[in-house]
Amino acid sequence: MQLYVDSANLTEIRHAAAMGFISGVTTNPSLLAKEDPSLDIKSLLLDIHASVGGHTSVEVVSTDTDGMLREADEILTWFPEATIKIPFIPAGLAAVRNLANRGIPTNVTLLFTANQALIAANAGATYVSVFLGRLDDISTDGVQAVRDTAEIWDVHGLESQIIAASIRHPIHLLECAKAGAHIATTPYKVLMQSIKHPLTDAGLAAFLKDHEAMMAKKS
Ligand code: G3P
Repeated sequence: MQLYVDSANLTEIRHAAAMGFISGVTTNPSLLAKEDPSLDIKSLLLDIHASVGGHTSVEVVSTDTDGMLREADEILTWFPEATIKIPFIPAGLAAVRNLANRGIPTNVTLLFTANQALIAANAGATYVSVFLGRLDDISTDGVQAVRDTAEIWDVHGLESQIIAASIRHPIHLLECAKAGAHIATTPYKVLMQSIKHPLTDAGLAAFLKDHEAMMAKKS
């Protein structure tokens, strides 16, 4: 399972990218709205893309097919490798089909069931983003939606990549990897929580202390 960072914050994205294990970044209008309002969105997205150097999903905000396609074409003038993130609504599915027919990658977002993911895949989605955390928020098993989606993908050999999105904590990462998600797009905080382990820190401190003691004896 590949790891993307789910953020529009350049400091977070640069730090995550520098560690070498991130292969993409996903943004959305809410993440962009958290950033400094004086920042130019196009420049910010270009900086984000340059920082990661891999997959970069940029979401449209139109709710009609023509508007989504106009936005997609504009984003592609900014950087042609962009993946266009489209909401799972009927107008969005038509936009996904149009973009797929032109060979433009899409990430269909706001999916909450395996059936929705299946429909998005049939519309030509390159990526399907299942929002598990928001399901957990309403007392529904979010990981099960990822598991169901992965099972359907296995049975039918579907090609779209399953993105586990709306990840809230390290156990979500673990469960999504076991469920068969291809990618987990993960908040920076959860990536850092997943890296940190008290035994790693204590072990390193002991190694360094022993090394220093050995060097002191040799001198
Ligand atoms: O990638 C989707 C993600 O940004 C949604 O996360 O935490 O707003 O449910 P959240």
